[in-house]
Amino acid sequence: MLRSAKAAGCRVLLMTDETQRHEAWPYDAIDEFIVTPTFLRYQDVINTVTWMARGQRIDLIIPLDEFEIELCAILREHMRLPGMGVSLMRHFRDKLTMRELTQRAGIPVPRFAHILNYDALRDYMGSVPPPWMLKPRMDAGSMGIRKLHDSEQVWRTLDALGDQQSYYLLEEFLPGAVLHVDSVVQDGQIIFASAQQYGAPPFDTYHSGGVFDTTMLNRDDPRYPALLDMNQRVIRALGLANGVAHAEFIQAQRDDQLYFLEVAARVGGAYISDMLDYATGVNPWREWFGLEMSQLEGQPYQLPVPRTDYGAVVLTLARDAAPDTSHYTDPEIVCRIDKPFHAGFVLVSPDHARLVGLVAQYKERMARDFTAVAPGKGVQRTGLAR
Ligand SMILES: Nc1ncnc2c1ncn2[C@@H]1O[C@H](COP(=O)(O)OP(=O)(O)O)[C@@H](O)[C@H]1O
Ligand SMILES: [Mg+2]
Repeated sequence: MLRSAKAAGCRVLLMTDETQRHEAWPYDAIDEFIVTPTFLRYQDVINTVTWMARGQRIDLIIPLDEFEIELCAILREHMRLPGMGVSLMRHFRDKLTMRELTQRAGIPVPRFAHILNYDALRDYMGSVPPPWMLKPRMDAGSMGIRKLHDSEQVWRTLDALGDQQSYYLLEEFLPGAVLHVDSVVQDGQIIFASAQQYGAPPFDTYHSGGVFDTTMLNRDDPRYPALLDMNQRVIRALGLANGVAHAEFIQAQRDDQLYFLEVAARVGGAYISDMLDYATGVNPWREWFGLEMSQLEGQPYQLPVPRTDYGAVVLTLARDAAPDTSHYTDPEIVCRIDKPFHAGFVLVSPDHARLVGLVAQYKERMARDFTAVAPGKGVQRTGLAR
């Protein structure tokens, strides 16, 4: 994103907070680097950015992670800049809003209840069998999600949450495969979409550690058209006009049907954008910037013609800060993930069966060679959109 902006001739200002100031930012593409103590104090950030705007024109503000999406929407509205505003942002940030709007559009979703009225909650727990997932409405990366097995556990957890509880929803736990569709949207139309399946549900990877993987589905897979169709209906129901989306779905064991899990109006984390770039030539970060620029300048935006290779990401937390992966030598390795205490690869092949076999083999090998188990610190969070 930052490199695309620089290449388009923009002056690039990167604002980050203390927790991320030492990340491997592409300094060659950054004209000004601003560190604010924390993104959590919105008023301080608004003061800083409007102060910066006194001496220079700021035309676009783009978030780089789920956690800055709300702040950027507030800044855009305050400064009257183009891009997603606060109310549309909520459709993609708030899991309760997502549930309501998609259910209203006839899209299958897990049965859910807002933690608000206790009679309504008792009715819900009386009619929908446990286990249930208690979820914060606005977190990401499986953080804060709890699986609860009876109503007593729910009441006790709500007691502990106190005034925070109305920021949660409860929904039925639907065991099954978790799939995701990553798409590019222009004028309300999906102009690019790719469907993938996580090797294990992200909740499991997050809590038990182990090797994370996601693999593009075979385009002949009968689930492919169903996923693209449901993705399109979700994007329509929530009202995204221009941008990128990362939507997740569960294929439930109980009936084999697809259910909408959640969607974010951003690039998928965990190196999914790199995988798409290497396999198809479409990079959601680049496309998103292209769409924002075309909105700003009124110029047409052109999606590259996608290639049809298949891609996968295999990633694990590692015991060593800089694990040596040089003994992994298959030609399908297009990228070695270079991040402290991680080992991982992006793999690409025109042959889907070959890719699936390689992923299975790598998962076993990598677990032996590198994996460090740190439950609750799974790769999902660390890979989030960066
Ligand atoms: N209703 C559900 N049934 C089964 N698994 C779920 C359900 N909700 C969430 N999960 C599991 O928890 C993970 C994280 O939930 P999700 O709603 O995607 O939130 P996050 O924003 O944290 O990714 C999912 O990828 C899935 O593994
Ligand atoms: Mg998710």
